Amino acid sequence: MTSSDAASMASGYARYLAAKTTVDDRALNRPVLGELRRLMPAGAPRVLEIGAGLGTMVARLLDWGVVGAGEYILLDTDRQLLDDSRRWLRDWAAARGLRRDLRPDGLQVGDLRVRLVHAELGRYLETEHGPLADVLIANAVLDLVDVPAILPGLFRLLVPGGVYWFTINYDGESIFAPDHPHDDQVMAAYHRDMDERVRYGRPAGESRTGRHLFHHLRAAGAPALAAGSSDWVVSAGPDGTYPGDEAHFLRSILSTIEDALRTRPDRVDPVDLADWLAARGRQLAAGDLVYLAHQLDFAGRSPG
Ligand SMILES: C[S@@+](CC[C@H](N)C(=O)[O-])C[C@H]1O[C@@H](n2cnc3c(N)ncnc32)[C@H](O)[C@@H]1O
Repeated sequence: MTSSDAASMASGYARYLAAKTTVDDRALNRPVLGELRRLMPAGAPRVLEIGAGLGTMVARLLDWGVVGAGEYILLDTDRQLLDDSRRWLRDWAAARGLRRDLRPDGLQVGDLRVRLVHAELGRYLETEHGPLADVLIANAVLDLVDVPAILPGLFRLLVPGGVYWFTINYDGESIFAPDHPHDDQVMAAYHRDMDERVRYGRPAGESRTGRHLFHHLRAAGAPALAAGSSDWVVSAGPDGTYPGDEAHFLRSILSTIEDALRTRPDRVDPVDLADWLAARGRQLAAGDLVYLAHQLDFAGRSPG
């Protein structure tokens, strides 16, 4: 992404999601992706992606030849992001010389009809939602929702035996290098914030979503057919610069931690937090900061 692309993005979060694309490209577990390819229905399947954000996954799956024709629904609770996604996907398709036509409810990209659905997932599961999907995708989303509560409803969105691919599920380990004396204090407080988060009136995720998914999927009658790690690993190259827009990605990760903890002096001493953030900011500017986050991917079939 160029800096003018970044500037044209209406929301800062859209730039974060665009910057995350190259990090996810490296991280997505290839054997689990291989299982998705094996399970993918032939022809023109209906794919539903929940918490789809800017739509970078549909672009990736077109690039990687995993989807080509049919319908791909991007569902998200953030209307601004969905608006951004129409433009982002149109520009992405134009850069590749693909046919693209804006439509009132989304856009056509090549032979793929992309539809945008503005909905909060919990509400969506409680209401009518049209034809069942053949494939359900959630990337960097299930750690933001109450997984055991919503899994049965999610699987009811799929045809019996439909395919799921749940990726980039955070699993309780973030590592920043070089070591800092406040690392453990900051990360313990951040994980506690994730574990106690409430959004849309419901519990919203937990810090060990990845490892807990094995048993949640089994309990929902849809044990994983493939699972593997999809850790984010971000470091600067030999010249001290980060690939793509990944310096921005790292700045966003630090801001997220700051936003979660700055009003919680009971959990982390404000002086220690400021000290930690300042050190990490200096290391980032010098190309010295390394960041790893442990995550897990899963593929399988819905019950039936
Ligand atoms: C970390 S972002 C990931 C976006 C995209 N999947 C990606 O990887 O680039 C999480 C997305 O889930 C959406 N989201 C979070 N909670 C949601 C909910 N309860 N219902 C619908 N969307 C939700 C957010 O608006 C955001 O776009």
